[in-house]
Amino acid sequence: MATYNPDYVKAQYAAQVEGEWARLDGTPRGKLMYQAHLQALRWHIRSADAVLEVGAGPGRFTKDLATLAGELVVTDLTPENLVFNRAKMTELGLADRIADWREADICDLSAFPDARFDVVVCIGGPFNYVFESEDTAFSEMLRVLRPGGLLILGLMCLPGIVRSLFHLARAEFETVSLDAIRWILETGKQDRIHYTVPSQHISHFMTRNDVLALCDRHGAQLVAEYSGGVLATVPAEHLDWTYANPPLWELLVEAELRWCASPGSAESGDHMISVVQRA
Ligand SMILES: C[S@@+](CC[C@H](N)C(=O)[O-])C[C@H]1O[C@@H](n2cnc3c(N)ncnc32)[C@H](O)[C@@H]1O
Repeated sequence: MATYNPDYVKAQYAAQVEGEWARLDGTPRGKLMYQAHLQALRWHIRSADAVLEVGAGPGRFTKDLATLAGELVVTDLTPENLVFNRAKMTELGLADRIADWREADICDLSAFPDARFDVVVCIGGPFNYVFESEDTAFSEMLRVLRPGGLLILGLMCLPGIVRSLFHLARAEFETVSLDAIRWILETGKQDRIHYTVPSQHISHFMTRNDVLALCDRHGAQLVAEYSGGVLATVPAEHLDWTYANPPLWELLVEAELRWCASPGSAESGDHMISVVQRA
């Protein structure tokens, strides 16, 4: 039985469009993660680039990509997100900067020809849902890139997630077997067979070794890596306190951006950002 179930993923995201739009803006923690991802996008996207955003969601980064890129095509698996994304970009006066919105699964980008884009942006974890189709999705995203083009891949990261969500993990660990805990810690795969917990956030939390293995199998190169948020893993109450003190908050944001940019910190947050170059 396949673990990747696009209908399940769609249903989850269709039910939380507004929540997803607010995720990286509504809390100090979200704001840190947003800045960390935006920094990576700014560093790797040039103003002439044709960019494909996959798993774009409601558009938290679409609005930035619309001004960073020369051309932007926006895609997502979940139609409700695309409807919201289009309306939001129209409201923000950015719709003219977006060439198209299309429904597409990262496992099937056949709507686009080979070598069509300079950059593919897949951040915020769409890749964590495709399980046995990871090689298909990875090769599809590379296929639509020109040789030398960049895939900016943001993934939910196993060590960072276990650490920052340990308070939730602990409650789960109290209800499952040691074998189940070994499974999740060794594979990162929260599936319905080996790690059956009520939260049912069916995802493959990944490590940089997973990314390196994908690069090896597909003849691509990992050319840069960042954390999607180091200080973002600090318990929310402490971040909220800091946010209420603007000069201190500014200092922490500066430190966060420096630390996220250090390759050594790539796996230290809930999300890691890998920049992969097509051969
Ligand atoms: C956590 S949201 C991230 C949205 C946006 N990229 C961001 O970082 O704010 C994940 C998005 O990926 C989409 N998604 C999940 N699986 C996908 C797949 N196989 N192909 C394309 N999009 C997918 C979901 O519909 C959802 O909009």
